[in-house]
Amino acid sequence: MMNDIESILITREQLEARIRELGEELTRDYAGKDPVFVGVLKGVVVFYADMVRQIQTPCQFDFMWISSYKGTQSGGMEVRRDVSADLEGRHVVILEDIFDTGNSLNYTYHHLLKKKPASLKICTLLDKPERRNPEVTLQADYTGFVIPNAFVVGYGLDYNEHYRNLPFVGVLKPELYK
Ligand code: IMP
Ligand code: MG
Repeated sequence: MMNDIESILITREQLEARIRELGEELTRDYAGKDPVFVGVLKGVVVFYADMVRQIQTPCQFDFMWISSYKGTQSGGMEVRRDVSADLEGRHVVILEDIFDTGNSLNYTYHHLLKKKPASLKICTLLDKPERRNPEVTLQADYTGFVIPNAFVVGYGLDYNEHYRNLPFVGVLKPELYK
């Protein structure tokens, strides 16, 4: 597995330190609000587990799973598994692995907005602004790391469903996905 990695972009120590900081921010901003953290599967799983353990105020977990239709480029999306909690009047924070073109976050955001939450914010581990679809005007409220335009894997992120279990964020050797 390590042979497929060109370089380590974010070490596990850097991830840990930054997530601790985000945890302090979220704890401060959501104290007493009983927020619902909605994780977008599957890429967010590793970040989610580390992130929520840095939240030192009562909160609730939920998850959704979306996918894009096969065969389309810019993509219609669909909800494959919706959240289970009633989000009306709740303070909701979307947790995502990466904000890339923004198409999937945009879809998730507007899907959850229809459920009439009291507030809806976005927390993403990684942001790749160079790749953003210009039609997506959303911005993340909490960002772990802004990264350059490279394809990264590890810490939940995959290439063809592999590499999610690497404990760091690394750049995949480009010859592997040509
Ligand atoms: P979007 O382009 O912002 O809609 O991101 C869609 C999804 O593409 C993300 O949730 C990730 O699962 C995946 N993705 C985007 N960039 C990368 C990357 O660099 N490595 C692995 N997955 C990525
Ligand atoms: Mg994802």
